[in-house]
Amino acid sequence: MKTLINRSILVALALLSTPAFGGDINWSPERPGNSADDPIERPKDLTGRSIKCPRVRAVHSTNVDDSGATEYLFKTDPWLGYQRGRELFVREFSKSDGVFGEPGQMAGRVLEDQVSKIMTRDHVASCALCHNVPFRDGGAGATMFKNSGQGRNTPHVFGGGVLEMIGWQMRLKLMEKADVNRNGYIDIGEADTVRAVVTNLPAGEEGSTAIDLGSFGDADKDGKPDLNSVCFVWYVDANGKRIPWARSLKDEGVKGYNLEVQVFGWGHGRAGLAGRIPITSTLRAFTGQAFDNHQGLQACDPTLNEEPDSNGFALVSQLGAQQFYNGRTRDRGQTKDARGFSMDDPDRDGVVEELSEGDMDLIEFYQLNHPRPATAINTPLKQKGQALFKSLNCAHCHVQDWKIEANNSGDADYTKQYPGDRRFFDVSVTHNPTTNRLEGRLERLTKNGSPARNAFTARQVYSDFIHHDLGPEFYQMQFDGTLIKSWRTAPLWGVGSTAPYGHDGASLSLDEVIRRHGGEAESESKAYKQLSESDRVALLEFLRGLALYSTDDLPCDVDGDGKITEHFMVAGKDTGIERLNPEWLFKVPGQIEGEVTNPHGVKVQSNALTNVSDAYGCNLKYLKDDDRDGFPDALSIPAKPVARTVLKPVSTRKKTGRQSASHS
Ligand code: HEC
Ligand code: HEC
Repeated sequence: MKTLINRSILVALALLSTPAFGGDINWSPERPGNSADDPIERPKDLTGRSIKCPRVRAVHSTNVDDSGATEYLFKTDPWLGYQRGRELFVREFSKSDGVFGEPGQMAGRVLEDQVSKIMTRDHVASCALCHNVPFRDGGAGATMFKNSGQGRNTPHVFGGGVLEMIGWQMRLKLMEKADVNRNGYIDIGEADTVRAVVTNLPAGEEGSTAIDLGSFGDADKDGKPDLNSVCFVWYVDANGKRIPWARSLKDEGVKGYNLEVQVFGWGHGRAGLAGRIPITSTLRAFTGQAFDNHQGLQACDPTLNEEPDSNGFALVSQLGAQQFYNGRTRDRGQTKDARGFSMDDPDRDGVVEELSEGDMDLIEFYQLNHPRPATAINTPLKQKGQALFKSLNCAHCHVQDWKIEANNSGDADYTKQYPGDRRFFDVSVTHNPTTNRLEGRLERLTKNGSPARNAFTARQVYSDFIHHDLGPEFYQMQFDGTLIKSWRTAPLWGVGSTAPYGHDGASLSLDEVIRRHGGEAESESKAYKQLSESDRVALLEFLRGLALYSTDDLPCDVDGDGKITEHFMVAGKDTGIERLNPEWLFKVPGQIEGEVTNPHGVKVQSNALTNVSDAYGCNLKYLKDDDRDGFPDALSIPAKPVARTVLKPVSTRKKTGRQSASHS
């Protein structure tokens, strides 16, 4: 009771100190203004690149009529949904948003000495400060202290949705082989001698590679299935229910196991499956953990937090991604206020429900759809390099292409219920030799406003997504002295832009990281070292062509007319070269100011918008936040503000609540 009272006082203070009108610009990083605005009232950015909208928690709703809530955004204004998701990724959160709270404290999972944690908390205010190259784009970047004093390098999230879809499909294909009786899990003895092999492309197709994830049985009798450590396993009883404390097939009551394929992250510590603590295998869960550990922002997200059948599976996200129990967040919404917002405030910084379920939908949407890296490999030198890459056998780990199967969700056999490609657009980016630049082509993947969920073959991915031992040069000693020996085959798409290399960022050049390969890649590395100088140059040139790019700046055919115009007209204004700026594609397209005179009397092109509120939907019911408290006005309590401080314990949310915008 005592903590409840303390907490309610904190909450009251937080709400009372929230500015009533206009917001306090000292607290907020956004710059909605244009040259006509008073910069004290409306900070400006004439490049148009800063975040323009004040922070307001997004509302999760499956009803398309709830204007401004998530289904509305996904179906009727997807580019706005994408851009708002992107804002969550690039925004520098401020104190009033609840950033930090426990800075410098130890965080994350505990290593095997049972004490040392893998990282420190709350060190940056934005995802974009690590995922930084290119800036504002889910790029690669900083190396940080994590797991080990040797460091962990930040990978890019270009094409993140494709990776997530590959991971889920790998799981289905493994279950197809192993769950012979189709009871939803792998019974002890059911598939003991079956090899866990999947292919990237249909068997027989050129480039189809058999990827061996080990065996479903426990031949070495250590109590764990002999699967590659990219598989995370949990143990179940006869009804398929997860036994939370079980760590082995030999534990009491264990009748089998279930699994997920964790394609994200460089690698997971303990090889094998000795009850290792999972990392998270979905974009959404990864994001929930990142927000909490790096920024001190806790999401209250029923999609991640509920495990309705106690079988290891959380809910399927609104965007169709199955979540797992290990993606749970710290804010479980145990106590809710009258609006339905969580009052838990796990980091006790006085800001409640720092991220809503709707926010998580939006940032998942951004990463799901984030364009793939470019392939600029059309010069003779690069093509020679690509051929060498194949002939050196690098491609047996760095597997080139992956097919996402078409939607087959109606199949009676659950292992064949492929969700299809869940994205709403794809961009292919290649090098145009005539203009000598990277150029994109936007392809919409929707049918009647929803993702068409067709098949999609992602080219030039270059990973088998399993863990390999590359020898001692790659072993990483964790804080507690234990060694991580195997790593996920790094997908090489984008690699031309992501130095430094390796999980630890210890190799400053491509040449160094390839020379460092040993262990399972000993012979390939040796062959690389024996190449002639000119062949090595060709191979490295090829890798450099697998590049990232700034999505805002990329010249891109967005209107599908087969060309890129120098004067792309949007809302009556010449925006310059046709490019992939989501603002151009909003339902109400952003209107730029155009030519203005700056304080030096110089004429400049202003890309600030003159219609921020309309373009960004700031007046839509579930985005409108005139009192600037960070919660949509539509969900505020009409009574006196003090009523908000009443803590009312509410039982866990109703299932049917997912059908409407009501927050609980
Ligand atoms: C302090 C630096 C830092 C910040 C801030 C950060 N990340 Fe990361 N991110 C990393 C590192 C390092 C990894 C690799 C982790 C590992 O394998 O141990 C990573 C990996 C990822 C991955 C997996 C990519 C892949 O292909 O393996 C995703 C997705 C991701 N981050 C999303 C986010 C999101 C979303 C945010 C903001 C909420 C965020 N990150 C903030 C450093 C950071
Ligand atoms: C046995 C499997 C295997 C083979 C064969 C292999 N690699 Fe790798 N490669 C990996 C793994 C695993 C990593 C990730 C290492 C880490 O996480 O530190 C990697 C990392 C890389 C990286 C660094 C990527 C990054 O983002 O940091 C490059 C570049 C690379 N490999 C190129 C090659 C080339 C070129 C060849 C052929 C000469 C090759 N690899 C052969 C498994 C392999």
